[in-house]
Amino acid sequence: MSPKKIPDPVAKRLALYHRCVNTLLNQGKDTTSSKELGERLSLKASQIRKDLSYFGDFGKRGMGYNLKYLRESLEHILGISKPWNVGIVGAGNIGTALSNYQGLLKDGYKVVALFDRNPSKIGTFVGTQKIPIYSLNELCDKIKELSIEIGVIAVPANHAQSIADRLVECGIKGIVNFAPMKLYLKNVILEDVDISISFKSLTFKIWGSSHGKT
Ligand code: NAI
Repeated sequence: MSPKKIPDPVAKRLALYHRCVNTLLNQGKDTTSSKELGERLSLKASQIRKDLSYFGDFGKRGMGYNLKYLRESLEHILGISKPWNVGIVGAGNIGTALSNYQGLLKDGYKVVALFDRNPSKIGTFVGTQKIPIYSLNELCDKIKELSIEIGVIAVPANHAQSIADRLVECGIKGIVNFAPMKLYLKNVILEDVDISISFKSLTFKIWGSSHGKT
């Protein structure tokens, strides 16, 4: 099935399966089952079998899944059997924290450039990988030169739409948006990340349960 037809929650669960499979492999295991994955992820085994069935057969009934094969297949499905170059706009708290996050690199997402409008940051480098910070004027040139396919927006919300428009003009394929702002874009895949939404969802549940409303 084309990735565009796969429901979004399935894509998110596939990433969870990949993380869980990695953990099991690191623990020295060779095989797993949808039951074990389900217990570890608080999901039904039938849900896991259904999600994986979108992409073919991964195990024989009753025999479980070979973990190395499952990891390889999930990496292929998730598009991480190839490396991705990432450019971050906004070299502030979020931008520099992401640049230093080794977990991204482990999954094949390499931050190769940051962009900022603050002259005191332009020309400096971030983290142990010494990732350069460029001026916004260099955005399109660097995106092409460094084969950047994914853009990250880590600027204040009131600048996010114009930065997103520029990233699209420069030919970026996908954007991860950290700014708390709904973006309107065409011809690009957009993922929003907002930690405060998770907090609100959490407090809604705590508040609701203590008031008997959930
Ligand atoms: P920050 O103030 O530390 O950094 C912002 C950086 O963007 C600065 O270096 C600034 O010079 C640069 N900048 C501002 N306008 C720009 C423009 N037009 N072009 C290029 N660079 C520009 O801010 P911080 O804390 O890193 O937050 C960044 C964004 O992430 C904000 O929108 C904030 O609300 C959001 N945020 C999102 C979170 C999430 O869970 N998604 C969590 C925390 C912050």
